[in-house]
Amino acid sequence: MARQFFVGGNFKMNGSVDTIKKIIGYLNEAKLDPNTEVVIAPPALYLLLAREHLKPGLEVAAQNVFDKPNGAFTGEISVDQLKDSNITWTLLGHSERRVILQEDDVFVANKTKAALDGGIGVIFCCGESLEQRESGKTIEVVTNQLRAVKDKVKDWTKIVVAYEPIWAIGTGKVASTEQAQEVHAAIRAWLKKEVDEKTAEETRIIYGGSVSEKNCKDLSKQTDIDGFLVGGASLKPAFVDIINSRL
Ligand code: G3P
Repeated sequence: MARQFFVGGNFKMNGSVDTIKKIIGYLNEAKLDPNTEVVIAPPALYLLLAREHLKPGLEVAAQNVFDKPNGAFTGEISVDQLKDSNITWTLLGHSERRVILQEDDVFVANKTKAALDGGIGVIFCCGESLEQRESGKTIEVVTNQLRAVKDKVKDWTKIVVAYEPIWAIGTGKVASTEQAQEVHAAIRAWLKKEVDEKTAEETRIIYGGSVSEKNCKDLSKQTDIDGFLVGGASLKPAFVDIINSRL
């Protein structure tokens, strides 16, 4: 079964009403590859704005969601509130939250379970630091992050796995096609062994870390690269070229 190409745009803590309306404007007008699933993740404050103005067929993701239902959790957003706002996806486990906000594997797995149980799709981020790569621990780190999810989740059909080597995020140092394909293949092999063959075959494994309109075509040709999670470039018109990288 062919896996539908998937491109997410992670705006991170960037943007304003004006700039996000501009981005949505050119995404709505652009000729986008109909075979690519497109999801944009603006800051939480702008989720409703994005949902309201984005044309049907393009989806909106939160950048995070809490693992507990509505209640006394100041500053957090619940799965129910995403559903209430017609937000169909959320990023979880982004390295910036794992490192800066100290989110550990279990917490991210709990949030993943809560989102899936509530019918929200999860773009599950995983990846290693430069130090972990240089000490040969890349696959161990990534599979440990995935294992935390496997311990809580049986159905992976609404999970997109985003491999984002930390050393490539925001640095301009994109992983080589060989480096990315190697880890993506290892993730797929892990899914086959630890979950099941169907999940391994059908799960989209997307790459993130300095993706640009210049490097996306070669990366998109790799067997186990099913799309991208784009940071900086998602804020620019070049995001359209990345969405269309398979055309
Ligand atoms: O979530 C995507 C992000 O981490 C990648 O950022 O700016 O390297 O494309 P960037």
